[in-house]
Amino acid sequence: MHASPDDHLTIGEVIRRTGVSASALHFYERKGLIYAERNGCDQRIFARHMIRRISLIIMAKRLGIPLSDVAKVFATLPFDHAPTHADWQRVSRAWKKELEERRRAIENLENELTGCIGCGCLSMKACLLLNPDDTLQGRGPGPVRLQEFSDSRSRRTRG
Ligand code: FES
Repeated sequence: MHASPDDHLTIGEVIRRTGVSASALHFYERKGLIYAERNGCDQRIFARHMIRRISLIIMAKRLGIPLSDVAKVFATLPFDHAPTHADWQRVSRAWKKELEERRRAIENLENELTGCIGCGCLSMKACLLLNPDDTLQGRGPGPVRLQEFSDSRSRRTRG
């Protein structure tokens, strides 16, 4: 018999194929990232196509992408059958936007690492000019200059 995306696998089979623990699978299920059905013996079974979701979750985690972002891009995928090529294209477009924002934030961090980020440390020469006496603390907590720069860039790209 040929394997099909709509086959159903036991949790043990999914664990073996993905390397993900049972507790992690439960967690992803609770977060709505994957879906399990019940068989006649009330055991949780997963459609084989869920393996692709699980694999993408693993990769996203490795890249430091929060599960909430993954949930956002998975939100439009069907649970009851294997997603089509068009479904994955939609996800890919949404994900690309998230990844571009992340890449820009990393670039900002790289560029600003030698300058004043407005964090209140006053330890760089540039702080004298850009944050004298930590005046930027009036604009809120955290590395104010870095945050404002990153916020304005993402507003521009969204708008
Ligand atoms: S780098 Fe921290 S206040 Fe300038």
